[in-house]
Amino acid sequence: MSFPQSFLDDLRARVGLADVVGSSVKLIKRGREYSGLCPFHNEKSPSFTVNEQKGFYHCFGCGAHGDVISFVMNTRGLTFVEAVEVLANQVGMDVPKPSREAQEREKKAKTLYEVMEAACVFFERNLRMPEGREGLDYFHRRGLDDKTISEFRLGYAPDNRAALKAALKREDIDERTMIEAGLLIEPEDQNRQSYDRFRGRVMFPILDRRGRVVAFGGRVMGDAKPKYLNSPDTPLFHKGQLLYGLPQAREASQHGAEIIVTEGYMDVIALHRAGYRGAVAPLGTAVTEEQIGELWKMTNEPILCLDGDAAGKRAAVRAAERALPVLRPGKSLLFSILPEGEDPDSLMRAGDGMTRFRKILDQAVPLAELVWRLDTAGRPIDTPERRAALEAAIGARIAVIGDEAVRHQYQSMFRDRTFKLFRGTRDSAPRPQRGGNKKSASYGKRGNKNYVWEPAGKAVPGMARPATGNRRLVQDRILVATLINHPALLDHIGERLGVYVCVDSDLDILRRAVLKLLDGDPGLDSETLKGHLKRDGLSETVLRAVESDVMAHAAFARPETPLTRALAGWEQVFSMAVSSLADEEAKYAVRQLAADVSDEEWERFSHRRDDLARRRENVFKLDD
Ligand code: UTP
Ligand code: MN
Repeated sequence: MSFPQSFLDDLRARVGLADVVGSSVKLIKRGREYSGLCPFHNEKSPSFTVNEQKGFYHCFGCGAHGDVISFVMNTRGLTFVEAVEVLANQVGMDVPKPSREAQEREKKAKTLYEVMEAACVFFERNLRMPEGREGLDYFHRRGLDDKTISEFRLGYAPDNRAALKAALKREDIDERTMIEAGLLIEPEDQNRQSYDRFRGRVMFPILDRRGRVVAFGGRVMGDAKPKYLNSPDTPLFHKGQLLYGLPQAREASQHGAEIIVTEGYMDVIALHRAGYRGAVAPLGTAVTEEQIGELWKMTNEPILCLDGDAAGKRAAVRAAERALPVLRPGKSLLFSILPEGEDPDSLMRAGDGMTRFRKILDQAVPLAELVWRLDTAGRPIDTPERRAALEAAIGARIAVIGDEAVRHQYQSMFRDRTFKLFRGTRDSAPRPQRGGNKKSASYGKRGNKNYVWEPAGKAVPGMARPATGNRRLVQDRILVATLINHPALLDHIGERLGVYVCVDSDLDILRRAVLKLLDGDPGLDSETLKGHLKRDGLSETVLRAVESDVMAHAAFARPETPLTRALAGWEQVFSMAVSSLADEEAKYAVRQLAADVSDEEWERFSHRRDDLARRRENVFKLDD
């Protein structure tokens, strides 16, 4: 509801600002102004001023600024209408029913959607007209066919200051509405005409979650700057809250599509064309918390695709910083790093790009892993002080996690990893060089190789992310396969694999058989173990499936991989698999185990081991 301007002016004049503010803030008169302690931030000396004549308050400390209505809204947590009612009551004014004019305005607000739709149709139509030829050629040159062009409703804005304005006027849309919709620019100088914001650009309409046009991005066809021009924020559009491609991705996510976040409009379109219908892009900003929330409505672990350069790394850091405070159990981010100089658009158009892209997605790194690498890569850990500094940095990073359960898991996982890192034992994380002073003095120079930002496809240490769909099944296969290929890991992972249950019952039989054979003879090598499994009549198909998944998704689990890497990879797949376990209790038990087990604490936990062994036997008894 809105009020006539005259009523609001009247109200403001009748309710003295200083009186209203003075009832909650102690004000002292200083010349024409009043001053006092700011009610919007904590301060000891007054930087808050009230100017009765001008009708506003201003704080030089925190920047709070507004009139009497916003003061009441902000100090009492009221909406605009509520604040107006409170103030009108105080001075005995009647709150008017919405005026005809105001109703009119509301109706117009509703029609903002229609205006945007009309503009979209205008741009689309222009692309097909002679003057839009240049735009159409541009899209064709970038590999888009007519089907894609109409699917994404791409268009063309003529290079003319009044083309859209004139066209929409003919449809009885008034100038004010066009300005409010962000389609026209209103010059500061009142005597000059408003004019089309988008001129001589190819147009990408931006749709809201329900598929309505709420904004546009326009790209120049040459090298002019800015390359992309976007709609300003309007009543319909707040760029940090929306993603390009959102309505299509929402639809696709219901059919299990992966949700992939890329950088730009063209990337989204290229990915859609390649069958990745869950591709979206933020609109010229880093991913915001609201956008992360939007992504989580579609999937638990959206994949952020980032450039392999410094800007991509900064984007990853920012995304991580935004995500950590809002993480929830099950909800996280995965990070894929593209080869330097490529984006999904360029990859999709390269010969083997599709396959390479698939690989890059499969090697996506979980948020926790990324954070770990960011904080540990290249840091010296050769003195107690440096180690303490690393711990403090990691501690501070994790402290911002809002969800207690998630924070707890990060803490125990990272505690464990730091411990291993300091001991110089197995770990997938890049291990800073240690040794004499001379060597550590070179840190920050050449020694500081950044392992984090190895483009995917090269050696990103750590893990591969199994394909979605039956992700859990793939994870299970990898968990079992790692042990088959590296029986020497029994000591490290046997306990946990012992209480773990694979979703697929045939696979679970294999898991138990492997453990049983190794329990009987821990010295078995991989080939002999496989021989025994076959001899015991284990399904060849299961074994083959296990092997092929390992080849496709988990390089670390292959027989030729060093033990330490195999273990590190296993740990990560295990923690992902555990986090998706349905049974809360099982999850808890396994997690406790995962958090606690390390050889250092082995002795202290020996009684637990016995207990587990007993439990495992029970499992066997029950099932065999
Ligand atoms: P890029 O500069 O990486 O462009 O900007 P791109 O998507 O590869 O564009 P093409 O392939 O040259 O057409 C990535 C995204 O950042 C936003 C746009 O959303 C763009 O798609 N952007 C970029 C802007 O909003 N304004 C700009 O001036 C540039
Ligand atoms: Mn591009």
